Amino acid sequence: MQAGLVWRRNPRYIVALLVTISITIYILIFSNIRHQDFEGEGNSELELRIDASEERYNKVLRSREGLIRIYGPDPKDIYLFPPDIAPWPPYTVWDFFPAAFNCPHEIERVGALGDGGKWVCGLSRVAEEPNCIVYSFGVNYESSFEAEVLKSTKYCQIWGYDFSVSTFGPEIPEALSNRTHFRAVGLAGENTYGPEDDPPMYTLETLMHNNGHSHIDILKIDIEKWEFETLSAFIRPYISSGRPLPFGQLQLEIHIWNKTFEQLLRWWESLEAAGLRPFWTEPNLVYLNYHRDQATPDLAEYSFLNAKGNNIFISDHPEDQSSSSYREVHHPHAPV
Ligand SMILES: *[C@@H]1O[C@H](CO)[C@@H](O)[C@H](O)[C@H]1NC(C)=O
Ligand SMILES: *[C@@H]1O[C@H](CO)[C@@H](O)[C@H](O)[C@H]1NC(C)=O
Repeated sequence: MQAGLVWRRNPRYIVALLVTISITIYILIFSNIRHQDFEGEGNSELELRIDASEERYNKVLRSREGLIRIYGPDPKDIYLFPPDIAPWPPYTVWDFFPAAFNCPHEIERVGALGDGGKWVCGLSRVAEEPNCIVYSFGVNYESSFEAEVLKSTKYCQIWGYDFSVSTFGPEIPEALSNRTHFRAVGLAGENTYGPEDDPPMYTLETLMHNNGHSHIDILKIDIEKWEFETLSAFIRPYISSGRPLPFGQLQLEIHIWNKTFEQLLRWWESLEAAGLRPFWTEPNLVYLNYHRDQATPDLAEYSFLNAKGNNIFISDHPEDQSSSSYREVHHPHAPV
């Protein structure tokens, strides 16, 4: 009765209402189909976010080229830290390398504030992952990071290496220590572990091989300037073959003691060529504070996401990796 009255008095209003409802339903159905399309073709929302981050990152690469032209133009002529004399160019080396990639998940501080903690992208992605593998180089008897990874995840196992100490730090809870593995050896760009070699040094490739691992989810490295030759040696074959690096993210402390801008730039560009994208950084101000009379800000923490391949942080189908070529050598679910 009421509806009939409205229809007789206001037919145009009713028609407009019906049209609006139809359009809404159509849009809902259509967007749902589109969404399924994305899932089906592997163009998930996650992958679209990675692509968008990559575009923004490319913009920063162009800005870096611009900055080099201004203060070089030859990279050989660029100061890491310009001296305190006119014309006081307004930069330090770290401005050339902003952490401009967007992590597509939550970012959280894992472990202590101050020295020891690290910024991690999407720890929730491995919270229930049965095959979660974490490597930590440079333990230094401070394991707040490792302890929090163990507590926040069900199955992650951590392999720790440091020739200067004999165990993980006291932060690791006894009840979770059976998910940790420690060896007092160092990480380097080449293997030197004969009877004469003290301390014994291993490449990342050899350690992974010995452990039967073909992937690492989270890789933490703090090895006092040896990161340069170590990472260069490790990533070289991946760059030349185009294969994705076998780790999901990298928490790295960079020590640029005695480096030139040009050396740092070439090395950094090789990390980028291998697919690494920085999503977080902080200068090490603790170090600077205690060396304020002699030191320049030579140390910085960076967190990188590996944006290449299909690791668990950039893909909803990380197990597809088992069919790609670099997985064939060692099975990812090999017993360890
Ligand atoms: C570690 O020990 C706990 C309890 O003792 C056990 O439930 C768990 O399966 C063990 N984990 C591993 C990886 O051995
Ligand atoms: C930097 O080079 C100087 C001179 O070659 C050397 O004495 C110093 O130990 C080096 N510093 C580091 C941290 O390698």
